[in-house]
Amino acid sequence: MSALIGKHILLGITGGIATYKTAFLIRLFIKAGAQVKCIMTPEAEEFVTPLTLSTLSKNPVVSSFTDTEKNWNNHVKLAEWADFMLIAPATANTLSKMIIGKSDNLLMTTYLSANCPVYIAPAMDLEMYQHDTTKTNLSQLTNSGHIIIEPESGELASGLEGKVRMAEPENIVEFISQHLLKQMPLFNKKVLITAGPTYEPIDPVRFIGNHSSGKMGYEMAKTALNLGAKVILISGPTHLTLTHPNLELIKISTAQEMFDNAMTFYDNVDIAIASAAVSDYKPKTFHNQKVKTTEDTFRIDLVKNPDILKTFGQQKKHQFLVGFALETNDEVENAKQKLEKKNLDFIVLNSLQDKGAGFKNDTNKISIITKDDIKRFDVKPKSEVAKDIFNEILNTRFNNKADA
Ligand code: PMT
Repeated sequence: MSALIGKHILLGITGGIATYKTAFLIRLFIKAGAQVKCIMTPEAEEFVTPLTLSTLSKNPVVSSFTDTEKNWNNHVKLAEWADFMLIAPATANTLSKMIIGKSDNLLMTTYLSANCPVYIAPAMDLEMYQHDTTKTNLSQLTNSGHIIIEPESGELASGLEGKVRMAEPENIVEFISQHLLKQMPLFNKKVLITAGPTYEPIDPVRFIGNHSSGKMGYEMAKTALNLGAKVILISGPTHLTLTHPNLELIKISTAQEMFDNAMTFYDNVDIAIASAAVSDYKPKTFHNQKVKTTEDTFRIDLVKNPDILKTFGQQKKHQFLVGFALETNDEVENAKQKLEKKNLDFIVLNSLQDKGAGFKNDTNKISIITKDDIKRFDVKPKSEVAKDIFNEILNTRFNNKADA
C-alpha cells in the first residue's frame, strides 16, 4: 500500500448498488495514508448518504454545481488537487458520458477538467456490460489512457450471475497501489543508506562520537521510499525514526556494527549511499569499569575502524555508489581524492565553511562531484538536497528524467 501514502484521491461515485462499497473503499484509502475527496452524482446519493462518505473521508462531499449557500463548487480546483481520479462504481451511463464529454453534473465537469490519471471501476448489470456500446466505450477509454479495473464475478442485484460486480474495495486499492508502484522510478530497486554518527565506547559511560544528527541520511531514505525503492537504512544513534512498509531500519551504535550490517546487504542492493559520519578510529581498549579521574592526563590509544565506503568501492559490481565528504579546507581536492580512492560514482561534498551546511542543520549546501564535473547547489532544506542527489542518480544510472 506504500504507493498511496500522501496521495490525493478524487473519488467519483456514480449511482448503482455497488455504491455502498465506496464507504469501505474510502476507509482503505485513508488507512493506506491517502487523502480522499468525493464527488457523487445525484443518483449516487440515492444509494449512500454524503454524510456517511464525508465522515469517512474527513472531507466535504460535493454533488452539485453549488453548495447550500449557492457558492460555486469549483470543479477545476478539485481536479487540480487530485494526484489521480477513481470513478467507482462507474455505470454504463457515466462511461458513455465520458466518451462524448457530456458535462451535465459536477462529477463530469471535474472529470473533463482533470489532467491526472483516471482509474475506472465499472459496475452494471450483465447485459449492459456485454452490450457492444459498453464494450466499445471501455476499449475507447482504455485507448485514450484510462485504466480499467476489471469487474469481478458474483451474484448481481438483478439475481443474475456474471463478471460485472465492481471489484472489491481491497482489490481496487491493491490494483492501484501496484499500478502506481510499477511506475515509480525506483520500483524493484534496493537502496542501502548509512546515516548518523557512530559511538565508539571508552568505558560504560563515555564514548567518542560526533555531531551528526542523521537528518541528511533519513531525508534520503524518505526520498528513496517515495520513488518506490526498498530501503535499508543503517543508522547510528539519533533521536530520529522512520517507519514505512518498504523500509528496514537497523539501529547500530559502533562503526564495526555499521560495517557488519552494511556488508550483509551490500551484494544485493542497486544503490548504496554512505552519509554516516563514521568514526575513523575507536579506543584500542574498552574499560569495563568507569575510568577514574585521579590522573591529570588520560591517554587513549586508538585503532582504525573498518572503512565501510572503501570496502563498498572495492567490492563494487553492479551497485551505484555514492559517498559524502565533510570537509573544512581544500574541499574539492579532498573530495576528489575520496571519489577516486573509494571507487565512487559520485561524491557529495558539504563543507563546514558554508553557512547552513553539514551537521544538525535542517539545511545543507552541497556539490556533486564526478570525475569530470562539479555541480554546485544552493543552501536548501535537507529534504530538497536529498531530491537533488536522487535526481542525479536517476539521470546518470537509470537514465530517468523523473523528478524525485
Ligand atoms: O547527520 P546530519 O546532522 O544531517 O549531518 C549530515 C552529515 C554532515 C553527517 C553528512 O552530510 C556527511 O557529510 N556525511 C559524511 C561525514 C563523513 O564522515 O565524511 P568523511 O569525509 O569523513 O568520510 C567520507 C565518506 O566515507 C563518507 O561517505 C563516510 O560515510 C564514509 N566512511 C568514512 C569512514 C569510515 N570508517 N567508513 C565510511 O564509510
